[in-house]
Amino acid sequence: MSLDKNNSQYSKIAKLFHWGFVILFVYGVTKQVEDINQLQDTDFFRFEIIFAIIFLFLLLIRLIYMKKTQKTSLPEDVPKAQKIVAKIVHNGMYVLLFSTVLSGLLIGFLFWLDITNGILIEIFVSVHEVVINLLYIFIGIHVIAAIYHRLKKDGVWSSMTFFGKD
Ligand code: HEM
Ligand code: HEM
Repeated sequence: MSLDKNNSQYSKIAKLFHWGFVILFVYGVTKQVEDINQLQDTDFFRFEIIFAIIFLFLLLIRLIYMKKTQKTSLPEDVPKAQKIVAKIVHNGMYVLLFSTVLSGLLIGFLFWLDITNGILIEIFVSVHEVVINLLYIFIGIHVIAAIYHRLKKDGVWSSMTFFGKD
């Protein structure tokens, strides 16, 4: 089958969303809450909540934009199973990104209600942590797949990058 790179390209806005979110996500992880007691600090707490709300809002806009205007750059002739797996990983990352930020906001909501310890908060913190660890796994698979396409030079890598042809 031909690898004639007739696959679609993502728009500039799509690329901006994709790479902007990589930066935003890395930033979110590096400035993560390390100890739940940090949330007692009002300024820290406020910043965390504002960051999470902006993240949530942008993610929603990205999702709507991507689903309404863009399509995958996977070549038509790849096996059906590969198309399905790509879809699961992409949609899975959206689900996990939403779950990360929503579980974080739920923890924040409990704190705001003065529920700062106990079983409820423990459950939400555990959910938050499990979701983030699942997200790391999905991102790992996604990056390995991206490198695979880079090596295969089938146009998928370059559909989401700003420079270069392959
Ligand atoms: C986009 C938003 C967020 C990202 C990317 C994020 C990321 C993270 C990461 C990477 C961890 C460490 C998980 C682990 O060690 O396995 C963590 C833990 C945690 N996060 Fe978030 N988080 C977000 C939003 C929030 C919000 C809004 C709150 C609450 C106001 C929050 C509260 C917590 C707490 C309490 C922990 C556990 C800290 C501990 O180990 O005691 N997070 N978060
Ligand atoms: C935080 C890390 C990342 C997340 C959450 C993420 C998420 C996504 C999502 C959801 C898509 C589907 C299109 C969309 O809805 O935007 C996508 C496509 C893509 N990503 Fe990422 N990505 C990440 C990092 C990376 C990295 C580091 C690379 C390259 C090494 C990469 C390369 C690609 C490529 C080539 C596509 C196009 C795939 C296709 O059309 O089937 N991504 N990414």
